[in-house]
Amino acid sequence: MEKREKLYEGKAKIIYATDDPNLIIQYFKDDATAFNAEKKGTIINKGIMNNRTSEIIFNFLENHGVPTHFVKKLNDREMLCKKVEIIPVEVITRNIVAGSLAKRLGSEEGVPLAKPVVEHCYKSDELGDPFINIYHIDAMGWATREQIAIIDELALKINALLVDYYRDINIKLVDMKLEFGLHKGEILLADEMCPDTSRLWDATTNEKMDKDRFRRDLGKIEESYAEVVRRIESRGDQ
Ligand code: C5P
Repeated sequence: MEKREKLYEGKAKIIYATDDPNLIIQYFKDDATAFNAEKKGTIINKGIMNNRTSEIIFNFLENHGVPTHFVKKLNDREMLCKKVEIIPVEVITRNIVAGSLAKRLGSEEGVPLAKPVVEHCYKSDELGDPFINIYHIDAMGWATREQIAIIDELALKINALLVDYYRDINIKLVDMKLEFGLHKGEILLADEMCPDTSRLWDATTNEKMDKDRFRRDLGKIEESYAEVVRRIESRGDQ
């Protein structure tokens, strides 16, 4: 397998082609952005930590029956993935009120939700990922009703698996963003699974261990990402 041309550069990752048309390489950068790229910075070694976190979580999910794009980790910053056509919908699952939901509901952060909530946003940097519903997704042709049902069921399954997974290492999974793509007609979990895209709170202290430390200038960003890696490695199931 050989690395070929750059296909796409995003805020946190670069995608490269390979000599196999069905495979791509995801390169994880240290760049961090927030508030639709209004705030920019660097989190030292974030790419290495997010590659490692994503590797372990994708492996765990695959072992529990979730189809993902992950093939294997290649080196510190790169993973080999199945090439997917990304469905332009960000799927958010929530277990505890935080972030934009706290604003939308006029609620305090930290209030547990009686049941997990699934939300959909249109994946568009220019528009700031606006909130949409399944009627929009269907009408715009981004996914069929049948595909949306599969995606939502997968999102809830991933959420349930990871709530338990993180609980075992004394972390609350507050919420997370998932992306799905189509590979040879199959819906696969894609993108990355890490503290950039999930809210993770220490279960004892409620201390934030995720990108909110960067968004809100809370300090100890690298330390928190490294602590997430340390805890998931301590489970010993990678
Ligand atoms: O901002 P909001 O509360 O809607 O974010 C919900 C979850 O989705 C958070 O874990 C956040 O990190 C993630 N997210 C993301 N990328 C976005 C928007 C949200 O990873 N563009």
